[in-house]
Amino acid sequence: NPLQGAQFVLAAHRLGQLPADRGAEVAFAGRSNAGKSSALNALAGHKGLARTSKTPGRTQQMVVFALPPLAQGEGRPPLEARLVDLPGYGYAEVPAELREHWKREIDAYLHRRGSLRGVVLIVDIRHPPKPFDRMMLDFCAATALPCHVLLTKADKVARGQAAAALEALRRGMREDGVPGTAQVFSSTAGTGVEEARERIAELLRT
Ligand code: GTP
Ligand code: MG
Repeated sequence: NPLQGAQFVLAAHRLGQLPADRGAEVAFAGRSNAGKSSALNALAGHKGLARTSKTPGRTQQMVVFALPPLAQGEGRPPLEARLVDLPGYGYAEVPAELREHWKREIDAYLHRRGSLRGVVLIVDIRHPPKPFDRMMLDFCAATALPCHVLLTKADKVARGQAAAALEALRRGMREDGVPGTAQVFSSTAGTGVEEARERIAELLRT
């Protein structure tokens, strides 16, 4: 597992509190309760790493995890690599002021973080992309930031439905010029975990 050994570094309320902007970073974004933290744990192979909850709005900070340095081969130095769990977006019961704060911070993070190599967008497979998902995909298209979509909670739908959701999403991404890939995923059933690990390691190395 290329994402094995991730360790909690810090939780930031503002961009300025993040670790030095060097090396490579991949951020986990998605609507509140979509399953971002659960996906991160499944990928790192460490259940209690990021805090998860049945209650939407659990992650209220940018939570940074460091990976062991990634070997790059061919005499190149190992790469400092991180995964960042972003606060969930779109939870109505979070006070408006806080929602505004996170909208600004996530926006600033995406625009200014030089070490950001790509976004892992977590989407509940049962619901077609919502406005926040669309916004993130549009942002990736506009800035040529690679994106990898995990259609998660696939254990909750039939196989055919999962395949149809993936096909529809891929078609939309192609039509909108989104530079990225998508797959079916389930944190609970372990579906697609290997594929996602490889893809994220690849994003970190680009
Ligand atoms: P916030 O931090 O609140 O934005 O949420 P999050 O996106 O980090 O979601 P989290 O990982 O905390 O998961 C939310 C709920 O969905 C929890 O009850 C999880 O157990 C559940 N969940 C997450 N992934 C899966 C999955 O693949 N399958 C199923 N059945 N449930 C899942
Ligand atoms: Mg979370």
